Amino acid sequence: MAATAGFVVAELIPPWPPRSNSALAFNAHSKSTEKLALLAPVENKPAIASRRVDGSVSYWLENIKHQGISAFHPDKNSYQVFRNVKDFGARGDGVTDDTDAINNAISSGGRCAPGTCNSSTTSPAIVYFPAGTYLISSSIIDYYYTQIIGNPNSLPILKAKPDFKGVGLIDGDPYGTNGLQYRATDIFYRQIRNLVFDVTDIPAQNEATGLHWPTSQATSIQNCIFKMSEAVGNNHLGLFVESGSGGVMTDLTFYGGAKGAIFGNQQFTVRNLKFHNAVTAIEQSWDWGWTYIGLEIFNCTTGINMATGGSSAQTVGSVTILDSSFTDTDVAIYTASTTTSSPRTSGSLILDNVSVKNVHDAIRGPSGPILAGGEKTIAGWGQGHEYNPDGPTLFSGPITPFVRPSTLSSNGKFMSWSKPQYTDVPLSMFISVRAAGAKGDGIADDTAALNSVLSLAAQENKIVFFDAGTYKVTRTVQIPPNSRVVGECYPVIMGSGIYFSTKGKPQPVVMVGNSSNPSGQRVEWSDMIVSTQGETMGAILIQWHLDSPKGSRSGMWDVHTRIGGFAGSGLQHADCPSTPSLKGEINYQCIAAFASAHFTTTSSRVYLENTWFWVADHDMDDPDLSQITIYAGRGLYIASDQGTFWLVGTSAEHHSLYQYQFVGTRDVFAGQIQTETAYYQPNPTATLPYHPELQYHDYDFDKGCVGKPLNCKMGWGLRVLDSKSVMVYGAGLYSFFNNYSTACSALGQAVACQERIFSIEGGSSVEVYNLNTIGTRVMASRRKTDIATYDQNVNVFPSTIALFKSY
Ligand SMILES: *[C@@H]1O[C@H](CO)[C@@H](O)[C@H](O)[C@H]1NC(C)=O
Ligand SMILES: *[C@@H]1O[C@H](CO)[C@@H](O)[C@H](O)[C@H]1NC(C)=O
Ligand SMILES: *[C@@H]1O[C@H](CO)[C@@H](O)[C@H](O)[C@H]1NC(C)=O
Ligand SMILES: *[C@@H]1O[C@H](CO)[C@@H](O)[C@H](O)[C@H]1NC(C)=O
Ligand SMILES: *[C@@H]1O[C@H](CO)[C@@H](O)[C@H](O)[C@H]1NC(C)=O
Repeated sequence: MAATAGFVVAELIPPWPPRSNSALAFNAHSKSTEKLALLAPVENKPAIASRRVDGSVSYWLENIKHQGISAFHPDKNSYQVFRNVKDFGARGDGVTDDTDAINNAISSGGRCAPGTCNSSTTSPAIVYFPAGTYLISSSIIDYYYTQIIGNPNSLPILKAKPDFKGVGLIDGDPYGTNGLQYRATDIFYRQIRNLVFDVTDIPAQNEATGLHWPTSQATSIQNCIFKMSEAVGNNHLGLFVESGSGGVMTDLTFYGGAKGAIFGNQQFTVRNLKFHNAVTAIEQSWDWGWTYIGLEIFNCTTGINMATGGSSAQTVGSVTILDSSFTDTDVAIYTASTTTSSPRTSGSLILDNVSVKNVHDAIRGPSGPILAGGEKTIAGWGQGHEYNPDGPTLFSGPITPFVRPSTLSSNGKFMSWSKPQYTDVPLSMFISVRAAGAKGDGIADDTAALNSVLSLAAQENKIVFFDAGTYKVTRTVQIPPNSRVVGECYPVIMGSGIYFSTKGKPQPVVMVGNSSNPSGQRVEWSDMIVSTQGETMGAILIQWHLDSPKGSRSGMWDVHTRIGGFAGSGLQHADCPSTPSLKGEINYQCIAAFASAHFTTTSSRVYLENTWFWVADHDMDDPDLSQITIYAGRGLYIASDQGTFWLVGTSAEHHSLYQYQFVGTRDVFAGQIQTETAYYQPNPTATLPYHPELQYHDYDFDKGCVGKPLNCKMGWGLRVLDSKSVMVYGAGLYSFFNNYSTACSALGQAVACQERIFSIEGGSSVEVYNLNTIGTRVMASRRKTDIATYDQNVNVFPSTIALFKSY
C-alpha cells in the first residue's frame, strides 16, 4: 500500500529558503556592512532543520510577544490577531482529535465567517501551529484574511482520521447551498505556510483532498507537503483549486495520489512544485494563463493533463512552463490541441528549458505523440499563434527560446528566492515596532516612531517586526539600506494628510533607500500593505531608490499596495460610490494616489514575488462588496537604469494611466503578470484626474488617440518604452468594463471595452509567451502600429498569442 510506513520526519523537511549565511552574519551582531555585501540570496537549496543544542525546534514567530491589534475591529481592545492552536486546546499529540480546537482558534472573536460574511479587512488572524501531529476528523474551515502558519523548523502535520469527512483537511471556501460561500474572485490576503497535509490514513479507494484553495490576488501557499496514498486505484487528491483569480504558490511537494493537484483558475504563478508517484501529477481543469517555474515531476503516469474538454471544447487557455523537468513519467504533457481544435488558440503551450528523462512522450495529442520523450533538454517548444513580429502564424514545434540576460540567471535558471522566514534567527534579533513606541491604532501619527526604529535596526542588523495594526503616517517612512522588515498578518502603513495631497509635489509614503545616496546594502521586506487615507493625490505609496550591491539583490514578498476600499481609509462605499452616471466634475475626495510603486532610475536588482498593486474596485468592508470609484494615477513604474528585476506572480489593477510601465530599463523577468483596467473608464478617460506628465514619461493620450474611438483613452495594461530584454512569461491584460458595464466583455471576445492595452515604444525589445487579453480590440501595438487584434486569436475567454516577439 502507501509508502507511509517508513515515512520519517527527515523526509518531511522540504527545501526552504535561505537558511542562511545571512542569518549567521546577523546573529553575530555584526555591524560590518561589507560582510553583508557578500550575502547573495541562497536559492531553494535543501536545508536541515535548525535543531538547537537543547534539541528544541523553536521559532521566533511562536515566541515573540504578540501585541498586534486590528485598529478598525469593533472590539479592537480585545480582538486577538495571533492565535496559537495549542492555546485553544489543540494537543498535536497524534492521538487527540484536534478538529474543534483548531476551528475555534480560527473562528473565535468576531471574524468574517463563510456563509455570513463576504469579506472583511478588520478581523485578520494568524493561526499558528507549533510542531506536532494534529489529528482531525473533519475540515478545518479557513476564514477570510487568515494566515495559517506552521513552525518551519519542524513542520506540523495535519493528519486525517480514517473516517475523515470534508473537502480538504483545510477547506479554504466551503460549498453552501448556492456554491462557494466566499466568492472565489474576492478572496484576497491569505496564506498557508509550513504544513504537512497527510491523508494517507483515509482508505485509498475513498475520496480524500488535502487542501481546497479557490483564491485570488494576494494569496499564497508556501513550503507545504501533501501526502497521499500510492496504492493502485487510489482516489486521493492533494490540492484542489477550481476557481478564482490567483495568486502564487511556492515550494510544495506532493507524494502519491490519483491526482497531485487539480488546477482551475484564471491565472496563477507557481514555483518549485515537486510531484512524486501520482497517476496524474497535475490536472489542468481550466485556465486563461498559468506559469510553472521550476516544476519537477517524478514517476507519474501523466505530468500535466491539459486536454480537459477535448479538442472540440477545450477549457485550458494557455500554459507556460520554464526551467522544469519530467522524470520517469509516461506522458509529460497531454494536450487536446490540434490544428483544428477549438477555440482557435486554446491549449496554447510554451516550454522553455524543460528537460525530460525516461519519458515516453514529451507531448501527446489526441491522435498520438507530438513530441517524443527520451532523455533530453527541450530548449524551446510551443504551439499556438505566433507573431514574430507579425502574424498570426499557427505553429507547433521547436522555438528559439528567449535569450536570458546573465544578470537574471543562476546556474542556467532564472534566479528564484522564496520569502525569508528567518528560520534560525534567534528572537533577540527582532525589534517590535509597537515595543519601540509605534501605536498602530490608525489614529496616532507613527511617522517618527517608525523612522527611528527602522534606522536603529538597520544600524544594528536587526529585523524589524511590524506587529499587526494600522500605522498612520503623515510624512515619509524611510526603509534604510540593510533593512529586513517583516509584518504580522499584513500590517498597514497608511499615508494620511496634507503632506501627501499637494498637487504637483508627490511624496513617498514608504521610501526604500535614500534618494540622495542610493547605494547601500540590500533590503528584504515581506508581509505588509501600504495604503493611503482620504484625499492623497500626491502619494507615491512605495518609492524605491536603493541600488543594491552588484552580485546581490533586494526582495519584496507579499508586500501589497491597497488604495481605498477598506475600513479606516475614508475611501469606502459611503465616501466614493461607483459613478456610472458621472457627468463632468469628478469627486476630488476620492483621488488617493499619484502612483502605487515607483522604482527610480537609481534602483536596481529587486526580486518581487506575490505583490498586488490594487486600487480598490469595491469596498472590502461593505457587506455587499459594493463597487466604488477611487482614482490613482499610476501602477508599477520601473525606470531603473541598471534594471535587473524579477517580477514573480505580480499584478496591478485599476490605476488610471497604466498598470505596468517600464521606461529606459533592462533585464526584466515578468511572469505571470496580470492587470485590470479601471472599471469607470472611459468615463472619465485615463487622462483624468492625472494629466500625463513628461517628467514621469506618461503616455500622451491626446496625441496618441487622434482619430481613434473614446475607449482609446483607457489605461495601458503594459507599456514598455526604450527598454531592453523585457521577457514576459505569461500575461493576462484584462479590460472587463466600460463605464461600469460589462456588456463590452460579456461574450469574452465579441466586442471591445478598450481599443489598446499593450504598447511597445522607442527602442524596446520585448518578448512575451502567452499574451492573454480580454475586452481589448488591439492586443499589441508597436510604435503606433496595431499588430494583433483579438478576433485573430480567440481563446476560451481571452484572446491569446503564444509567442510574441518585438525588436
Ligand atoms: C512510483 O510510483 C508508484 C505509485 O504510483 C509507487 O508504487 C512506486 O514505488 C514508485 N516508484 C519509485 C521508484 O518510487
Ligand atoms: C536549463 O536548465 C538546466 C538544468 O536543468 C541548466 O543546466 C541550463 O543551463 C538551463 N538554462 C538554459 C537557458 O538552458
Ligand atoms: C540620505 O543620505 C544623505 C547623504 O549621505 C544623508 O545626509 C541623509 O541623512 C540621508 N537621509 C536619510 C533619511 O537617511
Ligand atoms: C454610463 O452608463 C450609464 C448607465 O449605467 C449611463 O446612464 C451613462 O450615460 C453612461 N455614461 C457615459 C458617459 O457613457
Ligand atoms: C454578499 O454580497 C452579495 C452581493 O454582492 C449579497 O447579495 C449577499 O447578500 C452578500 N452576502 C452576505 C453574507 O452578506
